[in-house]
Amino acid sequence: MTETINIDVHPIEQSRIDSIDFDNLVFGRSFADHMLVIDYENGAWQTPQIVPYGPISFGPAMMSLHYGQAIFEGMKAYRSVDGDITVFRPSENLKRLNKSAVRMCMPEIPEDTFLEGLSELLRIDSAWIPDKPGCSLYIRPFMFSTDEYVGVSPSKTYKFIIFNCPVGAYYTKPLRVRVETTYIRSAHGGVGFSKNAGNYGGSLYPTKLANDAGYDQIIWTDASEHRYVEEAGTMNLMFIINGALVTAPTGDTILDGVTRKSVIQIAKDMGVKVEERPLSVTELIEGIKDGSVQEAFGAGTAAVIAPIATIASEGIDYDLPERPADAFSRKVYEEINGIRLGKIEDTRDWVYRIKE
Ligand code: COI
Repeated sequence: MTETINIDVHPIEQSRIDSIDFDNLVFGRSFADHMLVIDYENGAWQTPQIVPYGPISFGPAMMSLHYGQAIFEGMKAYRSVDGDITVFRPSENLKRLNKSAVRMCMPEIPEDTFLEGLSELLRIDSAWIPDKPGCSLYIRPFMFSTDEYVGVSPSKTYKFIIFNCPVGAYYTKPLRVRVETTYIRSAHGGVGFSKNAGNYGGSLYPTKLANDAGYDQIIWTDASEHRYVEEAGTMNLMFIINGALVTAPTGDTILDGVTRKSVIQIAKDMGVKVEERPLSVTELIEGIKDGSVQEAFGAGTAAVIAPIATIASEGIDYDLPERPADAFSRKVYEEINGIRLGKIEDTRDWVYRIKE
């Protein structure tokens, strides 16, 4: 891609990369040297800046702290076998970021600004892309309102930032999850489809209760009846039932996951039947009991494909069968990973390549 936007680069004086233990990466605790910062002022996005990663200052009245105009995305960069930097379907993340922006009364980001800013940032910090299996450079784009004002209204100024973290696996073992029937994540007409910070803030308390009871995550159910499976706190949920891939349809209450839609496409291409339909908790639990539910897994950028070992409902743990070597969730993980690393041909044009 030809560079068409101006980016001001202020490089770091001394890289911090030598302080990172790339053999023991945990998720989201270390940060690459630089970040991309773009300010929105006077009705327009200003010149993007690439600056050292570090604190930013703001006033206590900054509106996003009070009224929650804050949205984010998650992507991952890899070093492909031919040496290019690859990012998986970043334009899909941008589309979703812009949908979140519209819902939260925030300005949309133009695609060339997003992709060119991201590319330049990744070129500058390319040494931070881990090369160990299962590791990657997690990319966190986010936007928040910056006006200092105490009235409740959309801000007139915003900051868009991308920073990167070298990461290992988000989940390191098959998950124990619990069906949530007291608290809700989202309701029709709400903001459940958007990736705004408040959705995650609201999930912390019920997730903590589940963690305290020995579960890793919760399965959100619909807000009106707690009858249908929606998604987990950090990923969409998918099941293999009688050989078909079953997942909740996206609407205004469920996040339209990029990994989710990629898994669906791969399943279709493999000839696996796909059912995007409401799945009741009763059907799920009865299916585990009678063996028709063969696999359960989460799908997300951070989680990638996260197998589920146990689902708890109404105080009872139901164990999923061991995953066989040819389990769908293993095959789809291998396919997505192979495409990202350039080991499997990218026939669907999903990989965005950045040359150095
Ligand atoms: C992602 O998968 O990138 C997410 O944003 C989920 C989570 C880490 C909050």
